[in-house]
Amino acid sequence: MPRHTEIKKLLQSPPVGEQVTVQGWVRAFRARRFIALNDGSTIKNLQIVTDFEQMDEEVLKKISFHACIRVTGQLIESQGAGQSVEVIAEKVEILGEANPEEYALQPKKQTMEFLREKAHLRMRTNTFSAVFRIRHAIAFAIHEYFNKEGYYYLHSPIITGSDAEGAGEMFQVTTLDLDNVPKDEDGAVDYKEDFFGKQTNLTVSGQLQGEIAALALGKVYTFGPTFRAENSNTSRHLAEFWMIEPEVAFYDIIDNMDLAEDFLKYLINYVLDNYMDDLEVLDKRIAELEKNMKAELRRPMGLIDTLRFVVDNDFERITYSEAINILRSSKPFKKGRFEFEPEWGKDLQAEHERFLVEKKFKKPVIVRDYPKGFKAFYMRMNDDNETVAAMDILFPGIGEVVGGSQREERLDVLKQRMHEMDVHEDELWWYLELRKFGGCPHAGFGLGFERMVLFITGMENIRDVIPFPRTPGRAEF
Ligand code: 4AD
Ligand code: MG
Repeated sequence: MPRHTEIKKLLQSPPVGEQVTVQGWVRAFRARRFIALNDGSTIKNLQIVTDFEQMDEEVLKKISFHACIRVTGQLIESQGAGQSVEVIAEKVEILGEANPEEYALQPKKQTMEFLREKAHLRMRTNTFSAVFRIRHAIAFAIHEYFNKEGYYYLHSPIITGSDAEGAGEMFQVTTLDLDNVPKDEDGAVDYKEDFFGKQTNLTVSGQLQGEIAALALGKVYTFGPTFRAENSNTSRHLAEFWMIEPEVAFYDIIDNMDLAEDFLKYLINYVLDNYMDDLEVLDKRIAELEKNMKAELRRPMGLIDTLRFVVDNDFERITYSEAINILRSSKPFKKGRFEFEPEWGKDLQAEHERFLVEKKFKKPVIVRDYPKGFKAFYMRMNDDNETVAAMDILFPGIGEVVGGSQREERLDVLKQRMHEMDVHEDELWWYLELRKFGGCPHAGFGLGFERMVLFITGMENIRDVIPFPRTPGRAEF
């Protein structure tokens, strides 16, 4: 078998005049002569020119949309417009046929919902191949950023015995026989009989373990799968998603915000610098989609312009109390257009976040110092005794991408908060001990990986930026 060349490499420095072998999937076949071949290495197709009069009719018949082929021939400067080089096929081999009758994915526009049902084929489309190349790019840039800044990558556990967020929306892990559950004298499930001898769940956050590591290695981050059994069927929630959680010793809430802003801009810049081909395709997709939309429904800027705008401007920074004041004196509030009243002490709703980001400031906003009532027990109490040193970063079109805080390092205050919020001390004894053996101020945050991919690719639904989405009622593939 001749050595084959990847299309991306071939187009980067084309060996014009030489014999090449390429392999890939047929994206189009025109006039029994021109094949658009794609091998996934780049969004760009390679044009193959066949001489149908010389070709075996059996082979020719099998060159159809999505068939997998291997082609050997000379690479020449292209005669036609639209591409710089093309291959004059001397030999075409069929590696895998695509049965046209059975084939559901015709080369026409398909809805996102339809494509989701065909996860094994949707990656072959221009849009999804671009999305998943960019998803890779962001993951790579995350490791690159933290490595360059002296952070250590921590693998936090996936099976845990604690509920870090106190939200209780967890998937249970058990080997107990559900048809015959062992019970104790009080009639409660006897978890002593379970695999770990206690009740366990899939993790909702690696933060608490991250704190152990930060107070030893200084600067760490986790990047792993995260599970939440929230029954929310929205375009922003997944039951299985990926989260990045840096945790840093000696950082306060301001350092934390600075880190988050610098980090997010780095990721966007990395994609702008290295994946422009894919971004252009996604940018065009949105323009196409919005062509016939009313002006007020269209995005204010194209995708690439939005990304440039975000990296070129400072994020707006406000307190929660300021946010409430802004919302209460806003036009939509006065005209009764909010579904939920913005009220001090209540969490911001998506409509409030969207107003702040898209109407008021027209750029990313960091909201800090939230009321203690609806935030997690581990967030550091501010001097007012009413608010905690929390911060959320809100992005245009997405809402919350980052949630973080300075952590409560004072043992007595932490115990008090756990008591108030009904978090059991015996489950988190080690978290409390951390404060007894050289505790220090520290802070961190969690970035929802898919929400960031959603923002950078300009897609509309979080299910379309993860290869195999898991949502309520759905765990196919
Ligand atoms: O705000 P959250 O719940 O924060 C934490 O879990 C903290 N322990 C983080 C920390 O301080 N180390 O979640 C962090 C981010 C959210 O801002 C959001 O982007 C994402 O995780 N997220 C989800 N993404 C997709 N689907 C879901 N169901 C998500 N829930 C949270
Ligand atoms: Mg949050």
